Amino acid sequence: MALSPLFLCFVLLVTSSVSGRFVVEKSSITVISPSDLQSKHDSAIGNFGVPDYGGTMVGAVVYPDKSSASGCRAFSGDRPFKSRSSRPIFLLLDRGECYFALKVWNGQQAGVAAVLVADSIDEPLITMDSPEENSDKEGFVNKINIPSALIDRSFGDSLKKALQKGEEVVIKLDWRESMPHPDERVEYELWTNSNDECGSRCDEQMRFVKDFKGHAQILERGGYTQFTPHYITWYCPEAFVLSKQCKSQCINHGRYCAPDPEQDFGEGYEGKQVVFENLRQLCVHRVANESHRSWVWWDFVTDFHIRCSMKEKRYSIECAENVIKSLGLPLEKIKKCMGDPEADVENPVLKAEQELQVGRGNRGDVTILPTLVINNVQYRGKLERSAVLRAVCAGFAETTEPAVCLSGDIETNECLERNGGCWMDSRANVTACKDTFRGRVCECPAVNGVQYRGDGYTSCEAFGPARCTINNGGCWSESRDGLFYTACSENELKGCRCPPGFHGDGHKCEDINECNEKTVCQCDGCSCKNTWGGYDCKCRGDRLYIADQDTCIGRNTSGFGWFLTLLVLGGVVGLALAGYIFYKYRLRSYMDSEIMAIMSQYMPLDNQNNETEPLRQRQSSSV
Ligand SMILES: *[C@@H]1O[C@H](CO)[C@@H](O)[C@H](O)[C@H]1NC(C)=O
Ligand SMILES: *[C@@H]1O[C@H](CO)[C@@H](O)[C@H](O)[C@H]1NC(C)=O
Repeated sequence: MALSPLFLCFVLLVTSSVSGRFVVEKSSITVISPSDLQSKHDSAIGNFGVPDYGGTMVGAVVYPDKSSASGCRAFSGDRPFKSRSSRPIFLLLDRGECYFALKVWNGQQAGVAAVLVADSIDEPLITMDSPEENSDKEGFVNKINIPSALIDRSFGDSLKKALQKGEEVVIKLDWRESMPHPDERVEYELWTNSNDECGSRCDEQMRFVKDFKGHAQILERGGYTQFTPHYITWYCPEAFVLSKQCKSQCINHGRYCAPDPEQDFGEGYEGKQVVFENLRQLCVHRVANESHRSWVWWDFVTDFHIRCSMKEKRYSIECAENVIKSLGLPLEKIKKCMGDPEADVENPVLKAEQELQVGRGNRGDVTILPTLVINNVQYRGKLERSAVLRAVCAGFAETTEPAVCLSGDIETNECLERNGGCWMDSRANVTACKDTFRGRVCECPAVNGVQYRGDGYTSCEAFGPARCTINNGGCWSESRDGLFYTACSENELKGCRCPPGFHGDGHKCEDINECNEKTVCQCDGCSCKNTWGGYDCKCRGDRLYIADQDTCIGRNTSGFGWFLTLLVLGGVVGLALAGYIFYKYRLRSYMDSEIMAIMSQYMPLDNQNNETEPLRQRQSSSV
């Protein structure tokens, strides 16, 4: 954003402190081959695209012809670069002639996995930043989704020399140490503003806040992160406090200022309105945080943007207060936190913000909006949901990442190639390969409630009662002529066993020929015929085969069966009749005694004299 001279009357606290400090965030590069080049180098992470925070990439370096080595023109052809080993390609380009981001974009269009830019002069590493917004009319910067890094000149020269000799140069890009990951909580902060009318930077910020809100709230509610929003403020030098410019752009007598949104004092909104709204957003966070609901800030900011947009001329105190009320936040508390903007006093909240703008430790000064700081290092790369989530996730000590970090959103797709070298059951479409932002892991999965157990690399076995529902628990099964047999048993938690009538190890089962094995159908004159999974045994003549006893019996037994059935039926009817009579009798005698009891209240009955009193008491209590 270009500032006209009018706006230079107030200054950033940090620029007045000798020199603004910008920290170059680094990743490392290890040369794997050729062996005489094996070494480790620093590289500077580009401030666009998606750095692979927490991860590594191995690939082969390719350097184009001298004529296109700057990478400023689009490379022609479909996938013009190839490596001998079909490894991912890291394109090495020379610095100069055009924007860094354009080189990286051209590389991405040519299908490379990452772009390395070799510096053209000997100097300490610098950060490759994105160009001014009006130099990126096509918007390619936001479309870059590969990582990029700047390497120093001498390292670039040695890579080029090895490539000239025709050697294959394999390197590992490593971002594992680019993000400190000391413990199981990540602290991060976003330097932003409440104004939505500052061009593409504001749009980018708002889009990010909206997109990231879901992740941010999950992380915050779960106590995995501690997020703090921040707002850059300027101040007005003493001599100008009474000037028209400072009065319009500052609150608290020139102490806290923001540039006029339209850069025109005559019309529209004033800078002081922006500072005041920034202060409100800070106070919303403070007050919500006090009641342990810090994540409400994300709701407030997105709602405010929708309901109180500056572009639509709805940016007002009243609108902001309505948003506060609809989120159920205590308005009076927030007002108290904001204080009186006209008073000639410090505001503790804004004063703290000004002090925090100055970098300390590993973190550089905050001078540009938006700035994201994670575990006290400045984030490099584009402000985009999954790229930022990956960086936040890389800030957790390994194995303490919350589930959202293992979501499909930020995976590396290493499972797509040879299933990542993990176990898989292609028949059941079950795999142990799981993509994570740190790379793939081989872990026996849980599918539809069925847990697999094993080492994840060579074997996983379904475990538990429902295991047979997935590909028969990996056991043998077959169906033939409408018959189905499986070696998986729901009654056993693991393993496979051939069903009766088959033999084998459970992974392969074969029909037993019972007739040949002479285990059945041995009765005199019986004829045996093997079937799949069983056998048929026929007796000679009209006789019936009884499998249990492996004998034949005559058909005339059927008359006896009928007799038995009738006998049982008769018994049942008799019992029912007896029960009915007994019931009738009981009912009758019960009613008789009730009637007697009621009547006894009105007339003493000779034979129940001594029971009259308790009876009366019981009746009076039930009314
Ligand atoms: C939010 O609350 C936590 C403790 O609940 C505290 O440590 C932290 O400093 C608070 N953040 C702000 C910005 O007040
Ligand atoms: C296997 O499952 C994945 C996702 O679960 C799906 O995309 C794929 O099409 C499946 N493949 C087959 C052969 O069923």
